[in-house]
Amino acid sequence: MGDAVTIVEMAPRDGLQNETAVIATADKIAFVDLLSATGLMKIEVASFVSPKWVPQMADGAEVMAGIARRPGVTYAALTPNLKGLTAAIAARADEAAIFASASESFSRSNINCSIAESLERFAPLAARAKEAGLALRGYVSCVTDCPYEGHIAPDAVADVASVLLDLGCHEISLGDTIGQGTPETIEAMLSAVLERIPASRLAGHFHDTAGRAMDNIRVSLKRGLRTFDASAGGLGGCPYAPGAKGNVDTVKVVEMLEAEGLVTGVDRAALAKAARFARSLRPSR
Ligand code: HMG
Ligand code: MG
Repeated sequence: MGDAVTIVEMAPRDGLQNETAVIATADKIAFVDLLSATGLMKIEVASFVSPKWVPQMADGAEVMAGIARRPGVTYAALTPNLKGLTAAIAARADEAAIFASASESFSRSNINCSIAESLERFAPLAARAKEAGLALRGYVSCVTDCPYEGHIAPDAVADVASVLLDLGCHEISLGDTIGQGTPETIEAMLSAVLERIPASRLAGHFHDTAGRAMDNIRVSLKRGLRTFDASAGGLGGCPYAPGAKGNVDTVKVVEMLEAEGLVTGVDRAALAKAARFARSLRPSR
């Protein structure tokens, strides 16, 4: 049997956050429940960010309260600051995720502070998460390209990823936020990060804007990564990253991984059903 690969399902958060039409809380709950029935063991359900910044995610507490939790599944939430973490704890999230960027301009536009300020802000959050017994995940955005600055140096990614790890993150998700990474730039970025962090603590987070996400996953697999973020139905995008289209589709990722002999534990029929539901949530497209 091949290696096991963990897929972290992004659709309820990264997938829906960019949708401008209001999606009913009940639909979000039904969607997460469908995902819970697929065998996916990690689902990012909500984000506790400012509702002025991302209105679509304003009902995170209601969504977390409404879902039917399947034993063994991790239900995670994105938290930019202590206020967000406090809300995530109150909502009984199993895991909190902090998000930094390797690009100064993207950091400013996404979380309204410099990279250094964001890392300072995360320190008390990480301490509080530890105290509360909450697992902590870290994201680095713009790992190869930034919508404002263009190419990002691999060492800048390794620097931010290392700080997040030192803060207590069990895993660092490397985000090709605008899907402009190529197998070559992803490989160069991974080489820099892997000098400082083992592959077992890294995840690949690919947006499929330019249709290269699958190639970039293949490169990451070769470099030893075994965790990938994906979004059922290919939904996704960040409101502060112009051009960031859908996250790579979980359906395609599972198909490719299984074809390569890797084991995902995902029931493809159940996943197809969840992906259909995901697409029905955005009638405008
Ligand atoms: P700010 O305006 O600098 O914050 O935003 P502030 O501290 O001055 O607060 C402003 C207002 O927001 C206040 O309310 C706060 O209470 C409120 P007011 O007094 O004006 O009524 N506020 C909050 N409300 C609810 N929950 C909170 C919270 N914090 C403050 N947690 C802030 C700074 C970080 C809050 C803001 O910039 C923000 O929320 N940004 C989030 C943007 C976002 O969610 N982006 C998408 C997720 S990242 C992503 O998609 C990338 C990823 O997928 C990986 C990849 O692809 O690269 C992860
Ligand atoms: Mg993303």
